[in-house]
Amino acid sequence: ESQADDAAAGAHLIVVSNRLPVTLEQKGSEWSFKLSSGGLVSALSGLKREMSFTWVGWPGKDFGADDRVKIDNLLKENACSAVYLDDETAELYYNGFANSILWPLFHYHPGEMIFEETAWDAYQRANEAFAQALAAVVKDGDLVWIQDYHLMLLPRMLRALLDSSGRRGVKIGWFLHTPFPSSELYRILPVRRQILEGVLAADLLGFHTYDYARHFLSSCTRILGLQTAGDSVDAGGRVVRVGTFPIGIDPSKFSEALQTDEVRGRLGELERRFAGERVIVGVDRLDYIKGVPQKLLAFEQFLSQRSDDAERVVLVQVAVPSRGDVEEYRQLIGSVNELVGRINGRFGTIEYTPIHFLHRSVGFAELVALYAVADVCLITSTRDGMNLVSYEYVASQAQRHGVLVLSEFAGAAQSLDGAVIVNAWNIEEVAAALALALEMPAAQREASFRTLHKYVAKHTAAYWGTSFIAELTRVRQAADAAALL
Ligand code: ADP
Ligand code: G6P
Repeated sequence: ESQADDAAAGAHLIVVSNRLPVTLEQKGSEWSFKLSSGGLVSALSGLKREMSFTWVGWPGKDFGADDRVKIDNLLKENACSAVYLDDETAELYYNGFANSILWPLFHYHPGEMIFEETAWDAYQRANEAFAQALAAVVKDGDLVWIQDYHLMLLPRMLRALLDSSGRRGVKIGWFLHTPFPSSELYRILPVRRQILEGVLAADLLGFHTYDYARHFLSSCTRILGLQTAGDSVDAGGRVVRVGTFPIGIDPSKFSEALQTDEVRGRLGELERRFAGERVIVGVDRLDYIKGVPQKLLAFEQFLSQRSDDAERVVLVQVAVPSRGDVEEYRQLIGSVNELVGRINGRFGTIEYTPIHFLHRSVGFAELVALYAVADVCLITSTRDGMNLVSYEYVASQAQRHGVLVLSEFAGAAQSLDGAVIVNAWNIEEVAAALALALEMPAAQREASFRTLHKYVAKHTAAYWGTSFIAELTRVRQAADAAALL
């Protein structure tokens, strides 16, 4: 029996996130599911293989009463449960506050931040709707694990509802999937106090890296004047634990896929297609934090330094459309398209296209085959909570031992020894790293791969989730013991 089952034994676990693992699509009068993408969904889906929990979240849009019944049933079969928000609240909460204020601020893009009261009101309403939905299902002694920046007021709102209805022994955890910025940045936020107080009602707070946890603690001190000691905050007599829990993937999903006929067939096709060429792969949601323009400029610089008779190198860039209702994301598509066009125009020939740009989502088999065929994976995020694409590339490289070139501004750079770490803003440096990666001797590639693979194989999504839940369980046991004294 796994550690997870032990840890969760006796307690019902409820995981709450803005996004559910499935997005609903309507075909005629019928609803069907499409898998959602993003690091949070990938990691929690990996955890789901290991431990059981009910997953509560927003289904992506509002539905009429008849549809809700159908959808609730469909979701229930997947151990999911929906929190419905009216379309206006959802738009202002998700696009307006979460993605236009918290997201840019947490990724050091305050220039993109537009603070509007109506969005803040909607954020409060949406968090309250989550609290009400949870209060209806949470039982004494349950563990509730809240995810990400969309739901930072929820710990406090939920705690208030549980207290007022006499629910006992419920422990609340909260985990941030993005960076937590330096307090110098964080203090820009007009509602900085309310947001901190919102999460401090939880018992355990988790971050991907030690730096993010440290920034959070210093924000508590500087903005709320709270005392911190080591890894905990004194929130007015209640001790809140703050911990580092680096997330991971389910690597077996990739190694198993590589054994299937579908992926092997596709890999064979790609190998023939790219015969005589070296392949660099990039996979990103099309988000300004991913540094896609920086990546294209670095590739252009790299190409400009190649001699005419050098081996051809192609960049296959998958850019998954994301958050298209937010203006900054729409502008990004325009500038990326322009760069791709310019570079292909400058270096392309009838026989050779330097950049293959796919502005769409690709299926899982295609994704794994692409990871496996690539000599290099290039990640140039200007800030990124963790970045699971880097892990997925490693999990798909048992044959080729390709090189991971990784931005120092991705959380993953803190853990992935064996990657070539670059400053994504330094175009020259990234271009040089690409040249180095493509020329790296096999023995060195293999040694780096072994180091990387060892880490990715151990620090899985399940490991992340069970460590957090084990810690939350310990917090509960300590509280129970104190109550008996
Ligand atoms: P973020 O969470 O910011 O999107 P990550 O790199 O941590 O960044 O996670 C991205 C996740 O989205 C990865 O697990 C990746 O496999 C997944 N993903 C990328 N492209 C697709 C796609 N076309 N379809 C489904 N999932 C995808
Ligand atoms: C990041 C966030 C997740 C989010 C994902 C995809 O990983 O931390 O919470 O789900 O991006 O973004 P989306 O807005 O489509 O959910």
